[in-house]
Amino acid sequence: MGALSPASYSACFLGGFLLAAALPSLGADACPSIAWIPFEKSCYALLQGSSEVYGMDDARELCQGNASGADIITINSKDENIFIQSNFRSNWHGPEYISLGMFFDTDDDIFKWYDDSKVNFTNWIEEDSNNELLNTCATMHTASGGWKKVSCEHLPLTKILCETTGM
Ligand SMILES: *[C@@H]1O[C@H](CO)[C@@H](O)[C@H](O)[C@H]1NC(C)=O
Ligand SMILES: *[C@@H]1O[C@H](CO)[C@@H](O)[C@H](O)[C@H]1NC(C)=O
Repeated sequence: MGALSPASYSACFLGGFLLAAALPSLGADACPSIAWIPFEKSCYALLQGSSEVYGMDDARELCQGNASGADIITINSKDENIFIQSNFRSNWHGPEYISLGMFFDTDDDIFKWYDDSKVNFTNWIEEDSNNELLNTCATMHTASGGWKKVSCEHLPLTKILCETTGM
């Protein structure tokens, strides 16, 4: 009495497996197309820019035009930052820097995400300086995952990293 039979062991393993499978992450088939890679509750795609993509507004429109609810990338956790960086290593070869959907809001004196989500994670490479931050945006160095400030006029736009939470 008290010892588990082999049958209840396997029931236990099966239970654990089902639980893990039920975690709220999206499968690839939940993403808008094969261009999109799932991670946790979002899908991500690195889209080709064009000669018509001049600035942040165009970049956001490119994302929005590819999939409903899509927008330029927002990074809300260290895990998400690592996921993106590792995809640049394995899938998304090319750009040294990509634009983040972030801008410095001079009214409130803080960086904000365009999608209005809370800035609860940052990964700046450089120390804060006293440089004028008017019209400052942010990029990610794809090899290190570190973030760097850049003039919004000089955003890297050859490839745009987009994110969507829905289809
Ligand atoms: C979205 O982008 C992918 C990759 O560039 C492309 O293959 C696909 O046709 C685009 N879909 C739409 C609806 O624009
Ligand atoms: C950070 O904020 C986003 C969006 O508001 C939220 O979904 C996410 O759970 C938050 N992450 C952490 C680690 O607090």
